Amino acid sequence: MVAPKGLEGLIVADTEISDVRGREGFYHYRQYSAVELAKKRSLEDVWYLVYNGELPSRAEREEFVAEVKRYTAVPDPVRELLPKIAAVGDPFDLMKALRSAYSLTASHYGFKATYDVDAETLRRYAMQTAAVVPTLLTSLYRLHHGKEPIEPKPELSHAANYLYTALGEVPSDEHVRAVEQYMILTLDHGFNASTFTARVITSTGADLGSAVLGAMGSLSGPLHGGAPTRALAMLDAIGSPENTERWLREQIQGGGRLMGFGHRVYKTEDPRSAMLKELATQLRAPQVDFAKHVESRALTLLEEMKPGHELHTNVEFYAGVVMDAAGVPREMFTPTFLTSRVMGWTAHIMEQAASNRIMRPLSRYVGPPPPQPVPDPE
Ligand SMILES: CC(C)(COP(=O)(O)OP(=O)(O)OC[C@H]1O[C@@H](n2cnc3c(N)ncnc32)[C@H](O)[C@@H]1OP(=O)(O)O)[C@@H](O)C(=O)NCCC(=O)NCCS
Repeated sequence: MVAPKGLEGLIVADTEISDVRGREGFYHYRQYSAVELAKKRSLEDVWYLVYNGELPSRAEREEFVAEVKRYTAVPDPVRELLPKIAAVGDPFDLMKALRSAYSLTASHYGFKATYDVDAETLRRYAMQTAAVVPTLLTSLYRLHHGKEPIEPKPELSHAANYLYTALGEVPSDEHVRAVEQYMILTLDHGFNASTFTARVITSTGADLGSAVLGAMGSLSGPLHGGAPTRALAMLDAIGSPENTERWLREQIQGGGRLMGFGHRVYKTEDPRSAMLKELATQLRAPQVDFAKHVESRALTLLEEMKPGHELHTNVEFYAGVVMDAAGVPREMFTPTFLTSRVMGWTAHIMEQAASNRIMRPLSRYVGPPPPQPVPDPE
């Protein structure tokens, strides 16, 4: 049996963590609608849910939050190296810097092969990872801009600390809640490319750090997590309502992709996009009216020029508009996505490790027929 290109439509594992119903425009974490969770619960509650399968009681929440706070600080030997990492790269790329910093952090914590550790130890690695990633990111961001890193405040929530340690000021409740809701919406999403990567690496019995590093690389691609910055850059490039139609038409005609549109699984509106549009409107985001105008023209043109492909707005189109309005700098858009998706990856790593078989598919060889005689060297 030959799998379709891009593994489209194939089910490759069982999971109890999340699922996406592309035709219905619905997705869920465990037994709850992800959109409803984003409306009603905190990031910490939803993080607890994907790890444990149930929402926390008050006591469980308090214990979980205390555990998160134990792990948010960057370990000293890594902290000393951050200024060096933040000085490397031309141009500097926060995602690449994070890779280096996180790799050292995983080594510092001595993460052992998933093959060799019990579920409780693996859960601690998962917590250490998801808790420290935002601090690594905001420290690197500040150092790169010549500022001192800031320690998270124990009284702030995870999302509030993310904004605080990036920007250096305690953010408004409105901005915190917008970023928190964005993070909840993007925490997990079935077998997307980075989650799949994390599970393939885990399936070899490798350590959690290696699986997370692979997932980080996967997420950085423009077809996956790299799109929100590009979607906002597209709005900038279009510039004005008069220019919209011509710009979009030329882009599609030239074989280019409109960032923030199309999805492998959703064949209707992405529910994350619908909620982010609402959020952007509530926040009175500076770009929201223009974004709505571009969205409506883009949908009409995609239908006309790419008939039958059912291309709709995806999560990335309004993500940048919301983050921009909440004060997140553009270079932190994909990293912000990562700070929540790392919770999903680590949940999947635990699930994979708990019931593992190495992932080892086949390929179809289509090169020149072998065996040809190996010529003697000239
Ligand atoms: C998300 C995405 C990677 C899904 O890719 P996919 O399922 O492999 O879809 P395909 O590449 O098979 O595309 C099918 C057709 O739709 C077109 N298409 C898909 N997304 C498009 C987009 N955003 N703009 C213009 N055309 C698009 C493709 O060109 C192709 O047309 P063709 O058959 O005439 O060549 C793709 O839609 C995309 O590149 N979107 C832009 C990037 C983005 O927003 N990524 C964030 C994802 S959450």
